[in-house]
Amino acid sequence: MEPLLPRESIKIAPSILSADFANFGKEIEAVEKQGCDWIHVDVMDGHFVPNITFGPETCKAIRPHIKTFMDVHLMISPVDQYLEAFAEAGADMITVHFEAGQHVHRSLQAIKDLGVKAGLALNPGTSSEVADQFVDLVDLICVMTVNPGFGGQKFLLSQLRKIEKLANLKKNKEFLIEVDGGITVETASSVVSAGADILVAGSAVFSNGSVNNPDIYGQNIKRIRETAESAL
Ligand code: DX5
Ligand code: ZN
Repeated sequence: MEPLLPRESIKIAPSILSADFANFGKEIEAVEKQGCDWIHVDVMDGHFVPNITFGPETCKAIRPHIKTFMDVHLMISPVDQYLEAFAEAGADMITVHFEAGQHVHRSLQAIKDLGVKAGLALNPGTSSEVADQFVDLVDLICVMTVNPGFGGQKFLLSQLRKIEKLANLKKNKEFLIEVDGGITVETASSVVSAGADILVAGSAVFSNGSVNNPDIYGQNIKRIRETAESAL
């Protein structure tokens, strides 16, 4: 394994899947004020994954509350006919799943053509090797470290090797590596050692806090960041 590319800091992206759905605006403002880097927005359709969240209208409604970066993770299939709506809703990044359609290259190109950064997510059962075909096109590869659909699941250790392989593939390429699922103070350092740049964390950021007690969010973010950056 060649040495990892230098990374000076790690981005923490709270997933609003673990926030109060009746209070997205205030929840987003609270975690941003408490020091997160991106806002991760999980869109689920009850078809590609066994859970339903919300669609582009909700993304549009929360967009004015996001001052950092709106990272939209689409767990939907089919996806192509909805890309424009998510771009219009103000997504900075749109990530689609390799497994969500037969022409994912076309979906990624369509995202770029809409002027939005394009991400590719890989389910735990998908090999890192498929990424070879997309490295020149994508801005981000998201390694799912749980099977997508729900927050609060157990981190899949088997995915560490995939992160390492992608980090190796990243040499001389521009994409970032994001990890999503089961990220906690306990798992953060191992994914950073393996090569992750962005850590999505839902329950680990939002647990025990609230908009009325946002300092807890700040403490959670700080603890994840400290453990993560200790592995740089
Ligand atoms: C899972 C979602 C994740 C999820 C992470 O399908 O894509 O973003 O919310 O939640 P935690 O951090 O609780 O595993
Ligand atoms: Zn996600």
